[in-house]
Amino acid sequence: MMMHAVGARSVSRDLGGWRDDAGRRPAYRALADGIRLLVHDGRIPLGAALPGERELAGELQVSRTTVTTAYSVLREEGFLSSRQGSRSTVTMPAAPPRAPAVGSARRPEAGDVVDLSYAAMVAPVLEVQEAYSAALQALPPFLDTHGMEPHGIAVLREAIAARYCARGLETTPAQIMVTSGAQHAFRLLLGVLTAPGERVLVDHPTYPNALAAVRRVGGRPVPVPVRPEGGASRAWDLGGIRSAARQTAAGMAYLIPDFHNPTGLCLDDAGRAELARIARETRMTLVVDETMVDVWLDAPPPAPVAAHGRGLSEVVTIGSVSKSHWGGLRVGWIRAEPELIGRLVGSRSASDLGTPVMDQLAAVHLLDAGDGPVEARREILRAQRAVLLDELAARLPDWVPTVGTGGMSLWLRMPAPVSTALAATAPSHGVVLAAGPRFGVEGAFERYIRLPYARPADELRRAVAGVAAAYDALGVTVDPAEPALVV
Ligand SMILES: Cc1ncc(COP(=O)(O)O)c(C=O)c1O
Repeated sequence: MMMHAVGARSVSRDLGGWRDDAGRRPAYRALADGIRLLVHDGRIPLGAALPGERELAGELQVSRTTVTTAYSVLREEGFLSSRQGSRSTVTMPAAPPRAPAVGSARRPEAGDVVDLSYAAMVAPVLEVQEAYSAALQALPPFLDTHGMEPHGIAVLREAIAARYCARGLETTPAQIMVTSGAQHAFRLLLGVLTAPGERVLVDHPTYPNALAAVRRVGGRPVPVPVRPEGGASRAWDLGGIRSAARQTAAGMAYLIPDFHNPTGLCLDDAGRAELARIARETRMTLVVDETMVDVWLDAPPPAPVAAHGRGLSEVVTIGSVSKSHWGGLRVGWIRAEPELIGRLVGSRSASDLGTPVMDQLAAVHLLDAGDGPVEARREILRAQRAVLLDELAARLPDWVPTVGTGGMSLWLRMPAPVSTALAATAPSHGVVLAAGPRFGVEGAFERYIRLPYARPADELRRAVAGVAAAYDALGVTVDPAEPALVV
Protein backbone atom coordinates (compact mmCIF):
# COMPACT_ATOMS: atom_id res chain seq x y z
CA MET A 1 0.00 0.00 0.00
CA MET A 2 1.67 3.21 -1.13
CA MET A 3 0.60 6.17 0.97
CA HIS A 4 2.68 8.99 -0.38
CA ALA A 5 6.11 9.83 -1.64
CA VAL A 6 8.66 11.57 0.53
CA GLY A 7 10.94 13.98 -1.24
CA ALA A 8 14.74 13.78 -1.32
CA ARG A 9 15.02 17.18 0.33
CA SER A 10 12.79 16.16 3.23
CA VAL A 11 14.78 12.94 3.78
CA SER A 12 18.04 14.85 3.64
CA ARG A 13 16.78 17.43 6.17
CA ASP A 14 15.62 14.75 8.61
CA LEU A 15 18.84 12.79 8.27
CA GLY A 16 20.77 15.80 9.49
CA GLY A 17 24.32 14.84 10.44
CA TRP A 18 24.14 11.23 9.27
CA ARG A 19 27.77 11.26 8.20
CA ASP A 20 29.17 12.96 11.28
CA ASP A 21 31.04 9.82 12.28
CA ALA A 22 32.70 9.51 8.85
CA GLY A 23 35.39 6.86 8.84
CA ARG A 24 33.81 4.68 11.51
CA ARG A 25 31.30 3.10 9.16
CA PRO A 26 31.01 2.88 5.41
CA ALA A 27 28.75 5.63 4.02
CA TYR A 28 26.11 3.17 2.77
CA ARG A 29 25.86 1.68 6.29
CA ALA A 30 25.53 5.14 7.89
CA LEU A 31 22.83 6.04 5.37
CA ALA A 32 20.90 2.79 5.99
CA ASP A 33 21.15 3.35 9.77
CA GLY A 34 19.93 6.92 9.39
CA ILE A 35 16.91 5.95 7.28
CA ARG A 36 16.05 3.07 9.63
CA LEU A 37 16.09 5.51 12.54
CA LEU A 38 13.70 7.84 10.70
CA VAL A 39 11.32 4.92 10.14
CA HIS A 40 11.48 3.89 13.81
CA ASP A 41 10.85 7.47 14.88
CA GLY A 42 7.88 7.93 12.59
CA ARG A 43 9.58 10.61 10.48
CA ILE A 44 9.21 8.47 7.40
CA PRO A 45 5.78 6.82 7.58
CA LEU A 46 5.18 3.20 6.74
CA GLY A 47 3.95 2.78 3.20
CA ALA A 48 5.69 5.96 2.03
CA ALA A 49 7.72 5.77 -1.16
CA LEU A 50 11.38 6.75 -0.72
CA PRO A 51 13.02 9.08 -3.23
CA GLY A 52 14.58 7.52 -6.29
CA GLU A 53 18.22 6.50 -5.86
CA ARG A 54 19.61 9.04 -8.32
CA GLU A 55 17.57 11.87 -6.78
CA LEU A 56 18.61 11.07 -3.20
CA ALA A 57 22.25 10.62 -4.22
CA GLY A 58 22.16 14.09 -5.82
CA GLU A 59 20.56 15.69 -2.75
CA LEU A 60 23.01 14.03 -0.32
CA GLN A 61 25.99 14.50 -2.64
CA VAL A 62 27.03 10.88 -2.48
CA SER A 63 27.50 8.31 -5.20
CA ARG A 64 24.47 6.49 -6.51
CA THR A 65 26.09 3.21 -5.40
CA THR A 66 26.00 4.42 -1.79
CA VAL A 67 22.23 4.91 -1.99
CA THR A 68 21.67 1.67 -3.92
CA THR A 69 23.63 -0.32 -1.34
CA ALA A 70 21.91 1.39 1.60
CA TYR A 71 18.51 0.59 0.07
CA SER A 72 19.47 -3.06 -0.44
CA VAL A 73 20.63 -3.32 3.20
CA LEU A 74 17.24 -1.95 4.29
CA ARG A 75 15.48 -4.33 1.90
CA GLU A 76 17.34 -7.31 3.40
CA GLU A 77 16.38 -6.17 6.90
CA GLY A 78 12.72 -5.93 5.92
CA PHE A 79 12.47 -2.13 6.05
CA LEU A 80 11.93 -1.64 2.32
CA SER A 81 9.95 -3.40 -0.31
CA SER A 82 10.57 -2.82 -3.98
CA ARG A 83 8.87 -3.86 -7.14
CA GLN A 84 10.41 -3.74 -10.58
CA GLY A 85 10.04 -0.30 -12.04
CA SER A 86 8.49 1.40 -9.03
CA ARG A 87 9.89 3.25 -6.05
CA SER A 88 10.85 1.44 -2.85
CA THR A 89 8.27 1.73 -0.11
CA VAL A 90 8.82 1.63 3.63
CA THR A 91 7.74 -1.50 5.53
CA MET A 92 8.39 -2.81 9.04
CA PRO A 93 10.08 -6.19 9.64
CA ALA A 94 7.76 -8.74 11.24
CA ALA A 95 10.11 -9.50 14.16
CA PRO A 96 8.32 -9.45 17.54
CA PRO A 97 9.34 -6.80 20.06
CA ARG A 98 12.29 -7.77 22.22
CA ALA A 99 11.16 -9.74 25.28
CA PRO A 100 11.50 -7.72 28.44
CA ALA A 101 14.26 -8.83 30.80
CA VAL A 102 12.09 -8.87 33.91
CA GLY A 103 14.66 -9.39 36.60
CA SER A 104 14.30 -10.06 40.27
CA ALA A 105 12.29 -6.90 40.83
CA ARG A 106 9.85 -6.99 43.70
CA ARG A 107 6.28 -7.24 42.43
CA PRO A 108 4.63 -4.12 43.85
CA GLU A 109 1.38 -4.20 45.78
CA ALA A 110 -1.62 -3.05 43.74
CA GLY A 111 -1.90 0.20 45.74
CA ASP A 112 1.75 1.11 44.97
CA VAL A 113 1.27 1.14 41.23
CA VAL A 114 1.21 4.54 39.53
CA ASP A 115 -0.86 4.50 36.36
CA LEU A 116 0.79 6.78 33.81
CA SER A 117 -1.09 5.29 30.88
CA TYR A 118 -3.73 8.04 31.22
CA ALA A 119 -3.14 11.75 30.73
CA ALA A 120 -6.10 12.76 32.88
CA MET A 121 -6.53 14.37 36.30
CA VAL A 122 -8.81 13.48 39.17
CA ALA A 123 -11.92 15.63 39.59
CA PRO A 124 -11.86 19.00 41.36
CA VAL A 125 -14.15 17.47 43.98
CA LEU A 126 -15.93 20.51 45.38
CA GLU A 127 -16.58 22.11 41.99
CA VAL A 128 -17.97 18.90 40.52
CA GLN A 129 -20.17 18.23 43.55
CA GLU A 130 -21.46 21.78 43.37
CA ALA A 131 -22.12 21.42 39.65
CA TYR A 132 -24.25 18.31 40.18
CA SER A 133 -26.19 20.00 43.03
CA ALA A 134 -26.92 22.90 40.68
CA ALA A 135 -27.88 20.39 37.96
CA LEU A 136 -30.39 18.77 40.31
CA GLN A 137 -31.95 22.18 41.00
CA ALA A 138 -32.19 22.90 37.28
CA LEU A 139 -33.62 19.50 36.36
CA PRO A 140 -37.43 19.88 37.02
CA PRO A 141 -38.37 21.59 33.72
CA PHE A 142 -36.68 18.75 31.84
CA LEU A 143 -38.76 16.17 33.70
CA ASP A 144 -41.77 17.38 31.73
CA THR A 145 -40.09 16.29 28.49
CA HIS A 146 -38.94 12.89 27.26
CA GLY A 147 -35.41 14.03 28.07
CA MET A 148 -33.67 12.80 24.93
CA GLU A 149 -31.95 15.57 23.02
CA PRO A 150 -29.64 14.30 20.29
CA HIS A 151 -28.53 17.92 19.60
CA GLY A 152 -27.90 18.55 23.29
CA ILE A 153 -29.97 20.78 25.56
CA ALA A 154 -30.31 24.39 24.38
CA VAL A 155 -28.80 25.97 27.50
CA LEU A 156 -25.55 24.00 27.05
CA ARG A 157 -25.34 24.68 23.32
CA GLU A 158 -25.75 28.38 24.13
CA ALA A 159 -22.97 28.23 26.75
CA ILE A 160 -20.59 26.47 24.33
CA ALA A 161 -21.40 28.89 21.49
CA ALA A 162 -20.78 31.83 23.85
CA ARG A 163 -17.32 30.49 24.66
CA TYR A 164 -16.37 30.40 20.98
CA CYS A 165 -17.69 33.96 20.55
CA ALA A 166 -15.53 35.05 23.50
CA ARG A 167 -12.50 33.50 21.74
CA GLY A 168 -13.19 35.56 18.61
CA LEU A 169 -15.12 32.96 16.61
CA GLU A 170 -18.75 33.91 15.98
CA THR A 171 -20.85 30.82 16.71
CA THR A 172 -24.57 30.18 17.08
CA PRO A 173 -26.15 27.35 19.10
CA ALA A 174 -27.33 25.85 15.77
CA GLN A 175 -23.65 25.17 14.99
CA ILE A 176 -23.20 23.11 18.14
CA MET A 177 -24.02 19.48 18.88
CA VAL A 178 -23.39 18.08 22.37
CA THR A 179 -21.79 14.63 22.47
CA SER A 180 -20.69 12.19 25.15
CA GLY A 181 -17.09 13.39 25.04
CA ALA A 182 -14.68 14.39 22.26
CA GLN A 183 -13.94 10.77 21.41
CA HIS A 184 -17.64 10.21 20.70
CA ALA A 185 -17.65 13.41 18.65
CA PHE A 186 -14.79 12.18 16.45
CA ARG A 187 -16.38 8.76 16.01
CA LEU A 188 -19.65 10.39 14.87
CA LEU A 189 -17.75 12.57 12.38
CA LEU A 190 -15.88 9.58 10.98
CA GLY A 191 -19.17 7.74 10.57
CA VAL A 192 -20.76 10.58 8.60
CA LEU A 193 -17.80 11.93 6.64
CA THR A 194 -15.68 8.91 5.70
CA ALA A 195 -16.24 5.68 3.83
CA PRO A 196 -14.37 2.42 4.51
CA GLY A 197 -10.94 2.45 2.91
CA GLU A 198 -10.70 6.25 2.92
CA ARG A 199 -7.53 8.00 4.02
CA VAL A 200 -7.50 10.21 7.12
CA LEU A 201 -4.43 12.39 7.72
CA VAL A 202 -3.25 12.30 11.33
CA ASP A 203 -0.50 13.97 13.34
CA HIS A 204 2.34 11.55 13.96
CA PRO A 205 2.50 10.93 16.92
CA THR A 206 -1.17 11.36 17.81
CA TYR A 207 -3.84 10.44 20.36
CA PRO A 208 -4.10 6.61 20.26
CA ASN A 209 -7.89 6.41 20.62
CA ALA A 210 -8.25 8.60 17.54
CA LEU A 211 -6.18 6.10 15.56
CA ALA A 212 -8.37 3.30 16.93
CA ALA A 213 -11.51 5.18 15.84
CA VAL A 214 -10.16 5.67 12.30
CA ARG A 215 -9.37 1.97 12.03
CA ARG A 216 -12.73 0.97 13.51
CA VAL A 217 -14.58 2.62 10.61
CA GLY A 218 -12.24 0.96 8.11
CA GLY A 219 -10.31 4.19 7.48
CA ARG A 220 -6.60 4.32 6.76
CA PRO A 221 -4.55 6.71 8.88
CA VAL A 222 -1.95 8.64 6.87
CA PRO A 223 0.69 9.89 9.32
CA VAL A 224 2.20 13.35 8.88
CA PRO A 225 5.14 13.96 11.24
CA VAL A 226 4.96 16.50 14.06
CA ARG A 227 8.59 17.54 14.49
CA PRO A 228 9.33 19.08 17.90
CA GLU A 229 12.68 20.36 16.65
CA GLY A 230 10.81 22.60 14.21
CA GLY A 231 10.22 24.90 17.18
CA ALA A 232 7.36 24.67 19.64
CA SER A 233 4.93 26.53 17.42
CA ARG A 234 6.05 25.39 13.95
CA ALA A 235 6.39 21.68 14.54
CA TRP A 236 3.64 20.85 12.07
CA ASP A 237 4.97 20.06 8.62
CA LEU A 238 2.40 22.12 6.74
CA GLY A 239 4.03 21.43 3.38
CA GLY A 240 3.89 17.73 4.24
CA ILE A 241 0.19 18.02 5.11
CA ARG A 242 -0.56 19.78 1.83
CA SER A 243 1.31 17.25 -0.28
CA ALA A 244 -0.03 14.23 1.64
CA ALA A 245 -3.57 15.60 1.16
CA ARG A 246 -2.97 15.97 -2.57
CA GLN A 247 -1.16 12.68 -3.07
CA THR A 248 -3.55 10.50 -1.07
CA ALA A 249 -6.78 12.43 -1.82
CA ALA A 250 -7.58 12.13 1.90
CA GLY A 251 -11.11 13.32 2.66
CA MET A 252 -10.32 14.21 6.27
CA ALA A 253 -7.47 15.29 8.52
CA TYR A 254 -7.61 14.90 12.29
CA LEU A 255 -5.19 17.30 14.00
CA ILE A 256 -4.55 18.47 17.58
CA PRO A 257 -2.96 21.92 17.15
CA ASP A 258 -3.82 23.03 20.71
CA PHE A 259 -1.40 21.42 23.19
CA HIS A 260 -1.08 18.31 21.15
CA ASN A 261 -1.31 14.93 22.83
CA PRO A 262 1.36 13.61 23.45
CA THR A 263 3.87 16.47 22.87
CA GLY A 264 2.06 19.50 24.36
CA LEU A 265 3.00 21.61 21.32
CA CYS A 266 0.78 24.42 20.04
CA LEU A 267 0.58 25.64 16.44
CA ASP A 268 1.00 29.39 15.97
CA ASP A 269 -1.46 31.75 14.32
CA ALA A 270 0.23 31.81 10.91
CA GLY A 271 0.28 28.01 10.87
CA ARG A 272 -3.43 27.96 11.66
CA ALA A 273 -4.20 30.29 8.77
CA GLU A 274 -2.15 28.04 6.49
CA LEU A 275 -4.00 24.93 7.70
CA ALA A 276 -7.35 26.53 6.88
CA ARG A 277 -5.97 27.42 3.41
CA ILE A 278 -4.86 23.83 2.86
CA ALA A 279 -8.31 22.54 3.83
CA ARG A 280 -9.92 24.97 1.37
CA GLU A 281 -7.52 24.17 -1.48
CA THR A 282 -7.69 20.42 -1.10
CA ARG A 283 -11.38 20.28 -0.13
CA MET A 284 -10.40 18.14 2.82
CA THR A 285 -12.41 18.32 6.07
CA LEU A 286 -10.14 19.42 8.86
CA VAL A 287 -11.23 18.04 12.22
CA VAL A 288 -9.50 20.15 14.86
CA ASP A 289 -9.46 18.48 18.28
CA GLU A 290 -9.47 21.22 20.93
CA THR A 291 -9.83 18.87 23.91
CA MET A 292 -6.65 20.29 25.49
CA VAL A 293 -7.25 23.94 24.59
CA ASP A 294 -7.87 25.12 28.17
CA VAL A 295 -4.82 23.28 29.46
CA TRP A 296 -2.35 25.96 28.38
CA LEU A 297 0.49 26.30 30.86
CA ASP A 298 2.97 28.85 29.51
CA ALA A 299 0.92 30.94 27.09
CA PRO A 300 -2.71 30.89 25.98
CA PRO A 301 -3.38 29.52 22.49
CA PRO A 302 -3.96 31.70 19.42
CA ALA A 303 -7.49 32.03 18.01
CA PRO A 304 -9.14 28.75 16.97
CA VAL A 305 -8.19 27.32 13.58
CA ALA A 306 -11.85 27.69 12.56
CA ALA A 307 -11.50 31.48 12.96
CA HIS A 308 -9.34 31.37 9.81
CA GLY A 309 -11.96 29.40 7.96
CA ARG A 310 -14.99 31.59 8.55
CA GLY A 311 -17.90 30.24 6.55
CA LEU A 312 -15.79 27.26 5.60
CA SER A 313 -17.53 23.96 6.00
CA GLU A 314 -14.09 22.35 5.77
CA VAL A 315 -13.08 23.22 9.35
CA VAL A 316 -14.90 21.29 12.08
CA THR A 317 -13.95 21.69 15.74
CA ILE A 318 -14.43 19.23 18.56
CA GLY A 319 -14.12 20.03 22.26
CA SER A 320 -14.73 18.60 25.71
CA VAL A 321 -14.84 19.39 29.41
CA SER A 322 -12.76 16.26 30.15
CA LYS A 323 -9.41 18.04 30.55
CA SER A 324 -10.56 21.44 31.75
CA HIS A 325 -12.90 19.98 34.40
CA TRP A 326 -13.33 16.20 34.65
CA GLY A 327 -13.41 13.22 32.28
CA GLY A 328 -16.16 11.57 34.30
CA LEU A 329 -18.74 14.04 33.03
CA ARG A 330 -18.54 12.57 29.54
CA VAL A 331 -19.55 15.83 27.90
CA GLY A 332 -18.06 17.05 24.65
CA TRP A 333 -19.24 18.77 21.48
CA ILE A 334 -18.90 19.40 17.77
CA ARG A 335 -18.85 22.85 16.18
CA ALA A 336 -19.77 22.67 12.49
CA GLU A 337 -22.10 24.19 9.92
CA PRO A 338 -25.80 23.51 10.73
CA GLU A 339 -26.17 21.29 7.65
CA LEU A 340 -23.47 18.92 8.93
CA ILE A 341 -24.84 19.12 12.47
CA GLY A 342 -28.18 17.93 11.04
CA ARG A 343 -26.52 14.92 9.40
CA LEU A 344 -24.63 14.07 12.58
CA VAL A 345 -27.78 14.27 14.69
CA GLY A 346 -29.52 12.02 12.17
CA SER A 347 -26.78 9.42 12.41
CA ARG A 348 -26.56 9.50 16.20
CA SER A 349 -29.61 7.36 16.95
CA ALA A 350 -27.81 4.29 15.62
CA SER A 351 -25.55 4.37 18.68
CA ASP A 352 -27.24 6.50 21.37
CA LEU A 353 -30.13 8.90 21.88
CA GLY A 354 -28.36 11.75 23.62
CA THR A 355 -26.02 12.72 26.43
CA PRO A 356 -27.57 12.46 29.93
CA VAL A 357 -29.39 15.68 30.88
CA MET A 358 -27.88 15.77 34.38
CA ASP A 359 -24.34 15.68 32.97
CA GLN A 360 -25.17 18.41 30.48
CA LEU A 361 -26.62 20.61 33.23
CA ALA A 362 -23.54 20.04 35.36
CA ALA A 363 -21.39 21.04 32.38
CA VAL A 364 -23.39 24.28 32.00
CA HIS A 365 -22.64 25.12 35.62
CA LEU A 366 -18.93 24.40 35.20
CA LEU A 367 -18.66 26.41 31.96
CA ASP A 368 -20.47 29.34 33.58
CA ALA A 369 -18.16 29.27 36.62
CA GLY A 370 -15.49 31.35 34.87
CA ASP A 371 -11.79 30.68 34.51
CA GLY A 372 -10.89 30.41 38.24
CA PRO A 373 -11.25 26.65 38.69
CA VAL A 374 -9.51 25.96 35.36
CA GLU A 375 -6.60 28.23 36.30
CA ALA A 376 -6.30 26.31 39.58
CA ARG A 377 -5.90 23.10 37.55
CA ARG A 378 -3.30 24.75 35.34
CA GLU A 379 -1.36 25.81 38.42
CA ILE A 380 -1.31 22.21 39.70
CA LEU A 381 -0.16 20.95 36.30
CA ARG A 382 2.66 23.53 36.10
CA ALA A 383 3.99 22.39 39.46
CA GLN A 384 3.69 18.70 38.56
CA ARG A 385 5.40 19.24 35.20
CA ALA A 386 8.33 20.87 37.02
CA VAL A 387 8.59 17.90 39.41
CA LEU A 388 8.53 15.41 36.54
CA LEU A 389 11.22 17.31 34.62
CA ASP A 390 13.45 17.54 37.71
CA GLU A 391 13.10 13.86 38.51
CA LEU A 392 13.86 12.89 34.93
CA ALA A 393 16.90 15.16 34.78
CA ALA A 394 18.21 13.52 37.96
CA ARG A 395 17.51 9.88 37.12
CA LEU A 396 17.38 9.64 33.33
CA PRO A 397 19.50 12.55 32.11
CA ASP A 398 20.02 11.13 28.61
CA TRP A 399 16.29 11.00 27.86
CA VAL A 400 15.34 14.06 25.82
CA PRO A 401 11.93 15.59 26.65
CA THR A 402 9.81 17.64 24.32
CA VAL A 403 8.41 20.35 26.53
CA GLY A 404 5.36 21.89 24.93
CA THR A 405 3.56 24.98 26.19
CA GLY A 406 0.62 23.06 27.61
CA GLY A 407 -1.19 19.74 27.73
CA MET A 408 -0.69 17.00 30.29
CA SER A 409 2.33 15.00 29.17
CA LEU A 410 5.97 14.98 28.13
CA TRP A 411 7.04 13.08 25.05
CA LEU A 412 10.52 11.70 25.65
CA ARG A 413 13.12 10.37 23.29
CA MET A 414 15.13 7.52 24.79
CA PRO A 415 18.65 6.56 23.77
CA ALA A 416 17.48 3.20 22.43
CA PRO A 417 14.33 1.80 20.77
CA VAL A 418 12.97 -0.11 23.78
CA SER A 419 9.59 1.47 24.42
CA THR A 420 7.48 -1.71 24.12
CA ALA A 421 9.86 -3.68 26.34
CA LEU A 422 9.93 -0.83 28.85
CA ALA A 423 6.13 -0.64 29.04
CA ALA A 424 6.01 -4.43 29.43
CA THR A 425 8.47 -4.49 32.31
CA ALA A 426 7.44 -1.24 34.08
CA PRO A 427 4.46 -2.71 36.03
CA SER A 428 6.94 -4.95 37.88
CA HIS A 429 8.53 -1.71 39.04
CA GLY A 430 5.27 -0.06 40.07
CA VAL A 431 4.39 1.97 36.95
CA VAL A 432 1.94 1.45 34.12
CA LEU A 433 3.02 3.11 30.86
CA ALA A 434 1.67 3.52 27.34
CA ALA A 435 4.45 2.52 24.92
CA GLY A 436 5.49 4.95 22.18
CA PRO A 437 4.19 2.82 19.28
CA ARG A 438 0.62 3.26 20.54
CA PHE A 439 0.90 6.88 19.42
CA GLY A 440 1.99 5.99 15.92
CA VAL A 441 1.16 3.96 12.89
CA GLU A 442 2.51 0.43 12.67
CA GLY A 443 5.64 0.23 14.70
CA ALA A 444 6.90 3.82 14.80
CA PHE A 445 8.09 5.47 18.04
CA GLU A 446 9.88 2.53 19.66
CA ARG A 447 12.36 5.13 20.85
CA TYR A 448 9.72 7.33 22.50
CA ILE A 449 7.58 7.21 25.62
CA ARG A 450 4.82 9.51 26.89
CA LEU A 451 4.94 10.44 30.56
CA PRO A 452 1.92 12.41 31.79
CA TYR A 453 2.22 14.85 34.68
CA ALA A 454 -1.45 14.60 35.62
CA ARG A 455 -0.73 12.67 38.85
CA PRO A 456 0.34 14.28 42.17
CA ALA A 457 4.03 15.04 42.80
CA ASP A 458 4.71 12.14 45.21
CA GLU A 459 3.33 9.65 42.68
CA LEU A 460 5.43 11.21 39.92
CA ARG A 461 8.58 10.80 42.04
CA ARG A 462 7.78 7.13 42.65
CA ALA A 463 6.88 6.66 39.00
CA VAL A 464 10.18 8.05 37.71
CA ALA A 465 12.12 5.87 40.17
CA GLY A 466 10.15 2.89 38.83
CA VAL A 467 10.70 3.84 35.19
CA ALA A 468 14.44 4.26 35.81
CA ALA A 469 14.60 0.84 37.51
CA ALA A 470 12.65 -0.76 34.65
CA TYR A 471 14.99 0.85 32.12
CA ASP A 472 18.02 -0.42 34.06
CA ALA A 473 16.53 -3.91 34.11
CA LEU A 474 16.41 -3.89 30.31
CA GLY A 475 20.20 -3.60 30.24
CA VAL A 476 20.10 -1.14 27.36
CA THR A 477 23.32 -0.66 25.44
CA VAL A 478 23.49 2.21 23.03
CA ASP A 479 25.31 1.74 19.76
CA PRO A 480 27.77 4.65 19.72
CA ALA A 481 27.90 4.42 15.94
CA GLU A 482 24.17 5.02 15.58
CA PRO A 483 23.58 8.46 14.13
CA ALA A 484 21.84 10.96 16.35
CA LEU A 485 18.72 12.51 14.98
CA VAL A 486 18.94 16.25 14.67
CA VAL A 487 16.72 17.47 17.48
C1 LIG B 1 -6.50 14.87 22.17
C2 LIG B 1 -7.63 14.18 22.85
N1 LIG B 1 -8.81 14.05 22.23
C3 LIG B 1 -9.85 13.44 22.82
C4 LIG B 1 -9.73 12.89 24.06
C5 LIG B 1 -10.93 12.21 24.67
O1 LIG B 1 -11.73 13.19 25.22
P1 LIG B 1 -13.12 12.86 25.90
O2 LIG B 1 -12.84 12.40 27.30
O3 LIG B 1 -13.85 14.14 25.86
O4 LIG B 1 -13.79 11.79 25.09
C6 LIG B 1 -8.52 13.00 24.76
C7 LIG B 1 -8.36 12.42 26.10
O5 LIG B 1 -7.28 12.13 26.55
C8 LIG B 1 -7.45 13.66 24.13
O6 LIG B 1 -6.25 13.79 24.75
